[in-house]
Amino acid sequence: MGVRKDGWGTRVGLILAMAGNAVGMSNFLRFPVQAVQNGGGAFIIPYLVCFLVIGIPLLWVEWSMGRFGGKFGHHSTPFIMDTMHKNRLWKYIGVFGIWTNIAIAAYYCYMESWTLSYMFHSISGSFEGLDQNGVASFFDNYINLGTSTFGIPWEPVLFFLVCLFLNTYILSKGLEKGVEKVAKIGVPLLIVFGIFLAIKGSTISAGDNGAIYDSVDGLNFLWTPDFSSIWSPSVWLAAAGQVFFTLSIGMGTVHCYASYVKAKDDIALSAMSSGWMNEFVEVVIGSFILIPIGVAYLGLDGLKEMVNLGALSLGFKTLPYLFMQWGDIFGAISSFLFFSLLFFAGITSSLAMGTPWIGFLKDEFNWKHKPAAWSFGLIILLLALPTIFFFKYGVFDEYDYWAGTVSLVVFALLESILFAWGFGITRGWQEITANAEIKVPNIYKYIIKFVTPVLLLWVFIGSLVTPKDGNWEAAFQGDWTLDDSSIIKTLMNSKIKDKLANATDPDTIAFLEDQLFYVNASRLLLLSVFISFALLVYIAYKRRIKNNQS
Ligand code: ALA
Repeated sequence: MGVRKDGWGTRVGLILAMAGNAVGMSNFLRFPVQAVQNGGGAFIIPYLVCFLVIGIPLLWVEWSMGRFGGKFGHHSTPFIMDTMHKNRLWKYIGVFGIWTNIAIAAYYCYMESWTLSYMFHSISGSFEGLDQNGVASFFDNYINLGTSTFGIPWEPVLFFLVCLFLNTYILSKGLEKGVEKVAKIGVPLLIVFGIFLAIKGSTISAGDNGAIYDSVDGLNFLWTPDFSSIWSPSVWLAAAGQVFFTLSIGMGTVHCYASYVKAKDDIALSAMSSGWMNEFVEVVIGSFILIPIGVAYLGLDGLKEMVNLGALSLGFKTLPYLFMQWGDIFGAISSFLFFSLLFFAGITSSLAMGTPWIGFLKDEFNWKHKPAAWSFGLIILLLALPTIFFFKYGVFDEYDYWAGTVSLVVFALLESILFAWGFGITRGWQEITANAEIKVPNIYKYIIKFVTPVLLLWVFIGSLVTPKDGNWEAAFQGDWTLDDSSIIKTLMNSKIKDKLANATDPDTIAFLEDQLFYVNASRLLLLSVFISFALLVYIAYKRRIKNNQS
């Protein structure tokens, strides 16, 4: 690959940056939690199938869309999609590819800042001598902006500002000198830390450093295939959701990174290299840390109990306690390594989330790189503040649900239709295979045209109208009561309203009423950001017409 203005310096740099975009905190936290929640071995088969028929095809689709758009000087999805089809609506669909990143980055950078803080607290001995409840209270106190163990007021805000500054500063240095440089250091380092922790985690045996159970139990739980789940749509939905999030597909980052690849360069092999690297980190390293360690010290039931409280509970409320079972010094070092690994995984993903916005401002409004990067920092600061100050009301979770879950599926579905049917699979296939350094299996032409869009449609409909308790059999027999987890019921705030209807304690009622307010307000905020971006796309479109006429 040659060097060009605003581009990747080397091919290795591009692949590592793209792998860093994919490898994120979800590889180490969300994946094991999803796996345990969905039955361990029962999750792995749907997960791997989704990777093969949704993940891989969409990686090729997004990489080729990006390189195609780059030929016309487009680096964000609104005008990449606009170039692919004459229907004017596509550029507004492309707004998802900027909005999703901004909305995810807002809560993701906040979470990334917790890992910075936990690196500091691991080394400074804050977790020493704490039992499991002690570590859980530490996190609760932190997240509720209580006074920190070091007496720093509003410690989460401080760490967040440091984290956001780092992100913005690196972005302001540009792709080659900023993002690529960080990926070249961060990705190998996190793999080394991960392998070290995975070896230690998977070799804990009963009686060793206080472990009560054998960590092999944890690996058996995950790696003993259970075919019963093949018929459970809920497990498939969870598996597909994880594949989206972990590969960063349906977001717009892959398109943006790939738009800086030269037309004469390969994308087929690069896409596979970064995609499989992510899977190695997720399935091999990710599953060998948290699950075996959790099972060793808590037992399978104990781990399941923690997992049901979510990825954050397991990662931030429990893991430091488990690491401390390895002794004050080794425990502190392991905890530090784990949270550094999470930090590197996080920052190489959040940097990617900044690039579509920067690309858009530069392409459409002739902004210079640095102000564009700092404007990203400012938007994230403003959007993240509600997730920090109103965390307990579920604002963080709202962002995660709408931007980090629903939006990915919607955008992926629409782009796969555009690619296979609007742009046309014949042209699409030419784009994927042009200058390819591997033979792309022909079967993927059919998978991209039929299987991927149909599966995506099914995932979307399945999430929209999930029947009560995931009982699809009853639903198909006519009893289609919606589950509270369905998109429709979530939109109607059914869970909170049910709790409100049953609450008698005035404090609980007041809290739930506030929660309803904050949940609705955060949705309105996200919606208004989307509309503002769509407006910018409209203005950019008008400017383009004017410039073409003059
Ligand atoms: N792909 C990134 C992650 O897994 C967003 O965290």
